[in-house]
Amino acid sequence: MAILEALNWRYAVREFSDTQLSEDVVTELIEAARLSPSAYGLQPYRLLVISSPQMKEKLLPYAMGQTKIRDCSHLFIFATSTTIDAQFIEQHFARVEHERELEIGALTGFTQHVKEAMLSMSSLQLQHWAENQVHIALGNVLTASALKKVDACPMAGFENHGFDNVLGLAQLELRSTVICALGERAPTDTSADDRKVRLPINDFCIEI
Ligand SMILES: Cc1cc2nc3c(=O)[nH]c(=O)nc-3n(C[C@H](O)[C@H](O)[C@H](O)COP(=O)(O)O)c2cc1C
Repeated sequence: MAILEALNWRYAVREFSDTQLSEDVVTELIEAARLSPSAYGLQPYRLLVISSPQMKEKLLPYAMGQTKIRDCSHLFIFATSTTIDAQFIEQHFARVEHERELEIGALTGFTQHVKEAMLSMSSLQLQHWAENQVHIALGNVLTASALKKVDACPMAGFENHGFDNVLGLAQLELRSTVICALGERAPTDTSADDRKVRLPINDFCIEI
C-alpha cells in the first residue's frame, strides 16, 4: 500500500475484533520499533509485548475504562529507562565500538561529549528527553502497522503507576510511557467511517 493511502486508511481504533495477529506480523512491528532512530542512538526505552489474556485482564483496571487493551490482539507498551547515567551512556558506545569493530576506546572522546550533554540535564529533563525518543518508535510502529493493514490505537490514557506495578517495571528500571493496541478493527467500529480531521495543509505547513 502506498504511504499516504496507508496513513489515510489508519485511524485510532475504538473497537477490536477477536482476530489474532500472526507472529510474523508482530515480529515486523517489533523490528519497526527497534530500528527507530534516537538521539545519539541511545534507545532509552524498551518495548513490552503483551498477548497473554491474563496479563491484559490484570492491566485493565489501570486503562481508564479503555477495554480495547483487553480486546486487541497484542498490546505494545513503550517503557522509558529511569536510569540514564554515565554507565548507560558508556555501555551504549562500547556496543557501538564492538558492533562496528572499532578499537576499544575509539569513541571515548565522543562518549565524554555525550555524557556532558546528557548528564547536565535534571532527572525531569532526562525523563522528557526519553519520552520524546520513545514517541518516535511509536510513530514508526503506527506507520508500519498501517502499511501492513494492521489496525492500531496509540494510547496515553492509562495509569502508568498501575501498569508499572503489574509489570514489575521498577525492577527493570523502566517506566511505562505510552501504549499501542494492535489487531483488527471490529466491523461494528463505526469510527472507521469518521472523516479524518487535520489542519488544512496551508495552515499546517509554513513554507519559508
Ligand atoms: C500519544 C497519543 C495518545 C493517544 N491516546 C489515546 C487514548 O488514550 N485513547 C484513544 O482512544 N485514543 C488515543 N489517541 C488517538 C488520538 O485521539 C487520535 O490519533 C487522534 O484523534 C487522530 O485521529 P486518528 O488517529 O483516528 O486519525 C492517542 C494518540 C496519540 C498519538
